[in-house]
Amino acid sequence: EPDFLKNVNLRIPSRIPTKISIYKNENSFMAEVAKEKSKNNQDLKFQRGSFDSKWIDPVRMNSQATESFENSTQPEPMKNRNLMSITEQRESLPIFKFRNEIIRSVVENQFLIIQGETGSGKTTQVAQYLFEGGLNLKGKIACTQPRRVAAVTVAKRVAEEYGCILGQEVGYKIRFVDMTSPNTVIKYMTDGILLRECLSDANLDNYSVIILDEAHERSIYTDVLFGVLKKAAKRRPKLRVVISSATLNTDQFSKFFNNAKVLKIPGKMFPVEIKYQANPVRDYFNAAVNTVLNIHLQEPEGDILCFLTGQDEIDYACEIIDEIAEADDENFGNLYAYALYSALPFEEQFEIFSQIAEGNRKVIFATNIAETSMTIDGVVYVVDPGYVKQKVYDAKTGFESLIVVPISKASADQRCGRAGRVMPGKCFRIYTESAYENEMLEVNVPDIQRSNLSNVVLHLKSIGVRDILNFDFMDPPSRDFLIAALKELYLLEALDSDEKVTPMGRRMNQFPVEPNYAKMLLVSDHIKCTDEIVTIIAMLSVQNIFYSPKKNKHLANEKKDSFNHPVGDHLRLWNVYKKWEMNYKKNPRWCKNHFVNEKKLHEAYEVRKNLLEILQSRNFDIYSAGKNIERIQLAICVGFFKNIAHKAPSSIFRNKNDKSYRTLEENPEIVYINRSSCLFYQLPEWVVYNNIRETSKKFFQEITVINPNWLPYIAKGMYRRKDNDDKDNEEKLIKAFVEAQSAKEYKF
Ligand code: CDP
Ligand code: MG
Repeated sequence: EPDFLKNVNLRIPSRIPTKISIYKNENSFMAEVAKEKSKNNQDLKFQRGSFDSKWIDPVRMNSQATESFENSTQPEPMKNRNLMSITEQRESLPIFKFRNEIIRSVVENQFLIIQGETGSGKTTQVAQYLFEGGLNLKGKIACTQPRRVAAVTVAKRVAEEYGCILGQEVGYKIRFVDMTSPNTVIKYMTDGILLRECLSDANLDNYSVIILDEAHERSIYTDVLFGVLKKAAKRRPKLRVVISSATLNTDQFSKFFNNAKVLKIPGKMFPVEIKYQANPVRDYFNAAVNTVLNIHLQEPEGDILCFLTGQDEIDYACEIIDEIAEADDENFGNLYAYALYSALPFEEQFEIFSQIAEGNRKVIFATNIAETSMTIDGVVYVVDPGYVKQKVYDAKTGFESLIVVPISKASADQRCGRAGRVMPGKCFRIYTESAYENEMLEVNVPDIQRSNLSNVVLHLKSIGVRDILNFDFMDPPSRDFLIAALKELYLLEALDSDEKVTPMGRRMNQFPVEPNYAKMLLVSDHIKCTDEIVTIIAMLSVQNIFYSPKKNKHLANEKKDSFNHPVGDHLRLWNVYKKWEMNYKKNPRWCKNHFVNEKKLHEAYEVRKNLLEILQSRNFDIYSAGKNIERIQLAICVGFFKNIAHKAPSSIFRNKNDKSYRTLEENPEIVYINRSSCLFYQLPEWVVYNNIRETSKKFFQEITVINPNWLPYIAKGMYRRKDNDDKDNEEKLIKAFVEAQSAKEYKF
């Protein structure tokens, strides 16, 4: 037993809690804690006037820049936040000393790499410095973020610092939400959105500077933007590109960008004491929660940041803490748990930034979103179980799944660093020193090497990249991945046999969704069921519509079943949406009564609205399938042609309760239906699935019944019967498919 666990004799509930008394509704105790906390919140108000004369700097682009400073409002006295004015806060950041050098370097060089510890001020300051240096005069300053929530929180913060209303001079744009205006000069956006903007503006003429922030995360779109921006910069000598990274290995960035200058911001890091486990730990979750409790009992004040792998774990950890706080008020009454993960509604994510009363301690359970992209002040203790949930992709089967894997050394070091930002800290690693030294990879495998690339490839093709296999990637994905993407796009009819973007491909680009969803939308227009498909896409784009509190599981399941639809889960989602739309105004308790997540439905509403607006702006009519449900099934089938499975053939080996299905690959995968599907008891012969989740086995998520007679007609005849393997037939098959839809065969 490691030191820090000694002489503490504390029981915590094992994985299955005996009793959770506080779990009342979908907001569970989180909402209650939140309510209580907000009493202690200072009312934060900021006035315009973050421009302090000290900020004006001799490096100016031209006279206009001077003017823009002089026209800006003179500083007014500001209210304090944490006893420091915004200007003081800005000036206290490590990056501040490099302000002039950053402006000068960007003026003089096309590419600049900035490396600095998380919290040194890269995300919030660099764009502002460049603005203050007048670099916005020829176009906006963009700063990309891999995560939606980071784009929003950071834009909020910078708007405060700048002293404007969010969406005015400082704004953000993420998928389905555009909070910018013609006045916007500093624009935070997700990397995916910037890549999307390249479709209509290949040279990014709207921008003077592009900051690729959090480059160390190596998100898939940031990786693609590396290559795209390098090309655009060649064509547009005035364009400036800044790469900002929190990790030390910047050589690779520099090399890729023609040996660009690297500016290193020395962090003001306090020492962090690292504690390892003496022996490998079996249950990292229990060990992590235990460690949190012990820190609270034994260590002096300072907040705790505990990394976990996903929402389930995080919500559960919060429940446990709350349970214990209630049961043992004396020891744990002042310990408050917060959750932080991307699927959390924004308002709840902001909660973690709120201050709590003195004497209380925060513990934040977070995914690796807190590793680098979000900084929470006040953290002194880090608990690191050493795992992360990561996407893996198998190009052969086309499966993309999320699995829990050990983190890399670089991640471990980052996590550790989060403890040393305010004062000397401690990092409790729930693994052994030898695991760190010998078992962990040095750095993470970039996303682009473990994802389905069809979206990326369609983007690149659409902005005129002809030779995808030789595109200038910093870390090229495997050829197999690229070829699988080309093939999928061909079968979706987005690319022709010369790999050129087809009119269909261009139409697919109009929608900010993955190619298979876009295809589904376009097909739904063709076969007249857009209304339902838009709803289904909106509902699929927000996760966790249903919730089932542990106390009320039975009732929750019953309510969930009440939405069941005979053809499957996609239409169950549609059912929920329809019923919600009809009832939520009349009955404010409708969501609670049906155990569906109200916030998620509002999000789905926004996505749906956004898609409808795009459809309408392109003169699409919106059709409802009415009673012809089969159309909806067909549209899903066409978009997700890759995801078709059939019931394992009956044989003497197959038992009656066998819930297994086989996919249509040459070497079929075995996948199971689970209880969360409304087809669990029906076990239809053929299904199309939206996703696969791998836990102990592979399970479908959202399935819908399909008619196998459709198969020869979709995906360019890929599913022809073997005896009919005639290439010339493809065109005919597609024609037949179109005719079949409109005519008798499917009674459309
Ligand atoms: O990007 P980097 O990690 O280098 O730092 P940053 O995100 O620019 O954060 C600099 C400082 O701004 C942090 O220490 C936070 O105190 C503050 N900040 C904040 O108060 N609220 C935010 N939403 C973001 C940053
Ligand atoms: Mg940052």
